[in-house]
Amino acid sequence: MAPRKIIIDTDPGQDDAVAILLALASPEDVTVMGVTAVAGNVPLPLTEKNARIVCELAGKPETLVFAGCDAPLTRKLVTAEHVHGKTGLDGPKMDDPTMPLQSQHGVDFIIDTLRAHDAGTVTLCPLGPLTNIATAFNKAPDIIEKVQEIVLMGGAYFEVGNITPAAEFNIYVDPEAAKIVFASGVPIVVMPLDVTHHALTTRPRVDAFSALGTKVGDMVAAWTNFFERFDKEKYGSEGAPLHDPCVIAYLINPDLFEGRYVNVEIETVSELTLGMTVADWWRVTDRQPNAMFMGNLNAEGFFDLLTERLARL
Ligand code: BDR
Ligand code: CA
Repeated sequence: MAPRKIIIDTDPGQDDAVAILLALASPEDVTVMGVTAVAGNVPLPLTEKNARIVCELAGKPETLVFAGCDAPLTRKLVTAEHVHGKTGLDGPKMDDPTMPLQSQHGVDFIIDTLRAHDAGTVTLCPLGPLTNIATAFNKAPDIIEKVQEIVLMGGAYFEVGNITPAAEFNIYVDPEAAKIVFASGVPIVVMPLDVTHHALTTRPRVDAFSALGTKVGDMVAAWTNFFERFDKEKYGSEGAPLHDPCVIAYLINPDLFEGRYVNVEIETVSELTLGMTVADWWRVTDRQPNAMFMGNLNAEGFFDLLTERLARL
């Protein structure tokens, strides 16, 4: 099968960084047409810079990186320095990137790229708040039919919230954007916390990254060592969840995941449950299914794949 054409929409973040590395290491599976940064874990000037740092680390400075929206559609930006550190990529010391940021706005890149392709041929991979994608759909509704699939990290059902008791971070930051995306009619695959909380960076898994003996392996180990302190304290878990790489792993091997095709609606009104992904997991309503909502992951298979691919960089 020809590699899928993808656009990665992202707010790096250490786990976003690992997702980008996984994609750039997997040309037989995905062609990364561009990386669009969005404000999320940290403000936009840092997320676009971090995206470039990661592409350079992968040895792919020719990757097109764009800056997109610097704030959610209608709300004030909420960030997550408490998880990712001040830079968004705290942990190892890293040099500033030398590869250029593209001058075009990330949203216009998404629109132009989709317009240049046939219907159903481009996959969008959002790893942060859905602001860029919703803005593109609002501005150019004709592009919606061009999307083959949206495979995104966001939401939660059994695990409920990580930024509020009810909501997962990416959806909470821009619930209005998420509502637009989930109502778009595009086929959607969701990697919620229910899945990503199985993708834990246990000690042997981090040791396997270090054992690669490469700069990439060392960086990934150092990022995860930094990033996991927060979740270890919070959940008492064995490591940190590598949320965003689940999106790219799905494109490479969908059999690693199990889920249900259900209706998912986004709460945008209630202050208490703002950004909640109301998934009809038990199909107790007659609302039409609109998303493949994943619920489980073969964690060993996931880490084997990740380590094997990172070894290529
Ligand atoms: C999501 O929020 C961010 O902090 C991570 O990068 C991930 O995309 C998890 O809730
Ligand atoms: Ca992210």
